Amino acid sequence: MPSVIIVGTQWGDEGKGKVVDHCAQDASYVVRYQGGANAGHTIVVNGKSLRLQLIPSGVLTGKRVLIGAGVVIDPKILIDEIDRLESLGVRANLLISGKAHITLPYHHLLDSSLEQSRSRKIGTTKRGIGPTYTDKTSRHGLQMTELAAGNFEEKVKRNIDVANKMLRHIIEVDDQVNLDEVVQTYTKYASRLKEYVGDVSTAISSALENGERVLFEGAQGTMLDIDHGTYPFVTSSSASAGGACTGAGIGPTMIDSVMGVCKAYTTRVGEGPFPTELHDETGDRLRDAGGEYGAVTGRPRRCGWLDLNIIRYAKRINGLTSLAITKLDVLTGFDKVRVGVSYRLGNQIIRDTPVHDLENCVPIYVDLDGWSDLFDSDGLCTNAEAYVGMIERETGLPVSYISYGPERDEMICRRSVWS
Ligand code: IMP
Ligand code: MG
Repeated sequence: MPSVIIVGTQWGDEGKGKVVDHCAQDASYVVRYQGGANAGHTIVVNGKSLRLQLIPSGVLTGKRVLIGAGVVIDPKILIDEIDRLESLGVRANLLISGKAHITLPYHHLLDSSLEQSRSRKIGTTKRGIGPTYTDKTSRHGLQMTELAAGNFEEKVKRNIDVANKMLRHIIEVDDQVNLDEVVQTYTKYASRLKEYVGDVSTAISSALENGERVLFEGAQGTMLDIDHGTYPFVTSSSASAGGACTGAGIGPTMIDSVMGVCKAYTTRVGEGPFPTELHDETGDRLRDAGGEYGAVTGRPRRCGWLDLNIIRYAKRINGLTSLAITKLDVLTGFDKVRVGVSYRLGNQIIRDTPVHDLENCVPIYVDLDGWSDLFDSDGLCTNAEAYVGMIERETGLPVSYISYGPERDEMICRRSVWS
């Protein structure tokens, strides 16, 4: 199978970075297709952890890494990442779509001040993501080609004027953005990034024609998708598999399979409904054992049991063909592990995810026996196998990978995504 999408099935932070890093070892290209520096993908190699926000997680495997048109780019963060990789001896083999939009300083300001003014907070990462996508859809955005070309100042002036007026007169805050500073800094960014800008769509299409393997790496997760997530508590991009086509510039017929990454329990960072959330010491225990603190913002993540209604929903929205289970080790040591298998909604029992009624859905759980050692002499212990088996049965999806720790080799592969 030469082209595979890897997508988050929950609210992000499923451990996609590690799964992508693993699968990228047998690919030629890894492509980011949406989101921006709100994503934080952590990869651990030889005990050292590396956090990436924009460069695809496959970069450490030395593969060609592509950033598609659907991504919004904060040039400062991208340059910092390129530099950090260079200091580790990794030269990013990077191509950035000229169509990708740029995050500017006023986007950060608008993101924080709009969030502040909301009575119902979203809990954004304050990385300017929403306002960058707003400029894009309102057709005032600046693309990478414009950063790299000469007429940047003229274009950015209008946007900064509007943003400053909005900050002062509508949102009523004192912060203002200085045009000269932006032009100066972004001109430097342009000279640094120019060499990487090109045509991502054509590059992918030629790679696929040559029979090379291409991996599409989703950021965030299905439940944060702008259209299909728990709106308005979502991010501003198409985080589900459909976003890979528009965000990378390829047709749906060029995709062979879609693997969903599913953490063995559920987390969410930011506001919004979360049916299986635990507000007790079990939730704290999952947070501690799983190190559930935001990679970008450091915020403690909300934690709860696995919710299979959501995974079934992700199966439908993304057309999933398999699953990768991550962080199974975190459940080690619990006497009982609970799994949400359906919801009670009013007087009905449902097995789907009604995103607009999610706060009224009460999970119905099945309790399984826990385990004190994940492995016995035959491999995964019987109770952990039963847990994985339950996920397969309830979702109708085969589990291809099981990750049981942060290190690269802590991974069971039952069937390669490439087979
Ligand atoms: P934004 O993407 O910064 O606008 O944030 C919108 C919502 O998506 C907030 O609830 C964030 O916490 C959440 N979010 C954005 N990126 C990620 C991510 O990479 N992992 C988990 N949650 C995220
Ligand atoms: Mg993350």
